[in-house]
Amino acid sequence: MSKKVLLSGIQPSGKPHIGNYFGMMKQLISQQNDNDVYFMIVDYHAMTSLKNSKIMKENIIAVLIDYLALGLDPKKSIVFKQSDVSEHTELAWIFDTITPMAYLERSVAYKDARDNGKDMNVGLFNYPLLMAADILLYDVDIVPVGQDQKQHIEIARDTAEKFNNTFGQTFKLPKEMIMEEVAVVPGTDGRKMSKSYGNTIPLFAEYEEIKSSVMSIVTDSSGGIPENVFAIHKLLRPEEELKKIYEEKAGKYKELKELLIEDLEKFIAPLREKRKEYEKDIDGALAILNAGGERAKAVASAKMKEVREKIGVDVY
Ligand code: AMP
Ligand code: TRP
Repeated sequence: MSKKVLLSGIQPSGKPHIGNYFGMMKQLISQQNDNDVYFMIVDYHAMTSLKNSKIMKENIIAVLIDYLALGLDPKKSIVFKQSDVSEHTELAWIFDTITPMAYLERSVAYKDARDNGKDMNVGLFNYPLLMAADILLYDVDIVPVGQDQKQHIEIARDTAEKFNNTFGQTFKLPKEMIMEEVAVVPGTDGRKMSKSYGNTIPLFAEYEEIKSSVMSIVTDSSGGIPENVFAIHKLLRPEEELKKIYEEKAGKYKELKELLIEDLEKFIAPLREKRKEYEKDIDGALAILNAGGERAKAVASAKMKEVREKIGVDVY
């Protein structure tokens, strides 16, 4: 089988949670031996909501350390931040000019933001085209993501086709990779786990934090099986095994939550320890990020040269 190119991005907009891990990060980490993998920290995307330089810096470093602790191997893969490769914003502009407004107005994320009274900056509206540039610059085959990003990958594909039809074959059409069982990891309130809903279990949570998140899981009193507890628990144990336990302990919500706390602690404790090791060498981690940016830039700038030729601005 020939090698594939995989790429995905995460916004440095807060602490990654177990939804990010099972939905996306795990998939990317597991592909490093057989494929070319890009881990991208999308700081310019995060700017649509985050406007605080201190927190931005802290978050970028935190996500980088998270990835290293999870097993990102910089000898095999490329980790970089979007703002280190200016070709992303450059290509996004070109995509702006070939995309009808009405097409982006159909974006689910845009409609959600508008309907929830979010600060509707132009960046939020154009968000999918920057994401299309992120992907198309690297001739990516597969984009591992959670369900909420499905439409964004469709937009990237449509944009590639639109460009190819207008200016000639230039971009490869990417495919999403969405693992069905973890497409939407639920949070402690049963809605999608999300940094912006305050319903997360942080991926590197301390024991006390695991405990308080699990204790806050909303349980309804109607059935014997607390659905929201079960839904998170099944990330950690085979479903059949878990069903038996939940049937045996039907109605005993406290005991079931305590078991989930134990299982989460078993899963998170070794990751937390590794993370503490990496935290001791922030300069080393930043050197890895910097070098990753240079490697990504080399690929992206070759692609942009081709784009400039195709659109006719390369007059020299
Ligand atoms: P974000 O935190 O929005 O930058 O998301 C990073 C990645 O995690 C994206 O691929 C998302 O689709 C994925 N993701 C975020 N929340 C969840 C969730 N609750 N379940 C599954 N995947 C998720
Ligand atoms: N929009 C994605 C999210 O919020 C992050 C992202 C930006 C991304 N560019 C990407 C994901 C390119 C995959 C590929 O989760």
